[in-house]
Amino acid sequence: MAKVIIFSGAGVSAESGISTFRDSGGLWENYKIEEICYAGCLDWNYEATIGFYDKRREEIKDKKPNKAHSEISKIKEKYPTEIAVITQNVDDMFERAGCRDVLHLHGFLPEVRCESCGFTDNIGYRKLREAYENCPQCSNKLRPNIVFFAEQAPKYQDLYNELQDCEMLVVIGTSGNVINTDAFLQGNIRYSILNNLEKSSAINDELYSKVLYKKATVAIDKIVNDIEEFLKP
Ligand code: APR
Ligand code: ZN
Repeated sequence: MAKVIIFSGAGVSAESGISTFRDSGGLWENYKIEEICYAGCLDWNYEATIGFYDKRREEIKDKKPNKAHSEISKIKEKYPTEIAVITQNVDDMFERAGCRDVLHLHGFLPEVRCESCGFTDNIGYRKLREAYENCPQCSNKLRPNIVFFAEQAPKYQDLYNELQDCEMLVVIGTSGNVINTDAFLQGNIRYSILNNLEKSSAINDELYSKVLYKKATVAIDKIVNDIEEFLKP
């Protein structure tokens, strides 16, 4: 299990032009979570929900990974077993920056999934119906491979497993409203960095060894430098 966890949220993709959720102008200002991102919404609001994710999938097509994605990809490549890249984001910016083994806790926008038989496929940036009318294995309806609020998030177990051995935690671009990163600091974490644009009411920044309230693309050089220092034999 990794010694260093780089844990991110929507803020790491903000400078790639991908909207965050709770910043002003964020996604949840323009959409109602209960209509398109809540357990059961596929039953009563299927077309609108599919349409919402089709739009977000198409939107990321022309976006580019930013310096934070590429620097994290580089250091992950240098220390593949010592570093775990874990994100709440569903975009593919880390992958497009060349990062491997990214753990997406809330799903992955390019993928669709069948709840009935488990069929999953990466359809890139297409609309769901451009790729499949229905599940090719069992003919039931397909859905975005995204974890909605109040749904099971099976990958959280992988996060908790990684935290067992983690000694350095880097938190980038998350308000902490869904996953409370303060709680991660109880384990054997000896050094932690918090990088956001500004203080979040859901995070107690006094718990972190270093706090960087600046853009991720500006903070990332310092973050990578501290990771290198930490992993030095
Ligand atoms: N650099 C660094 N941090 C940034 C930047 C930036 N350029 N821009 C914004 N931020 C920070 C903000 O300060 C804020 O703390 O990113 C955070 C974004 O917070 P949210 O919009 O709440 O996004 P996130 O924390 O990822 O949301 C968690 O909520 O809606 C669900 O499933 C969804 O995974 C998401 C989860
Ligand atoms: Zn199926």
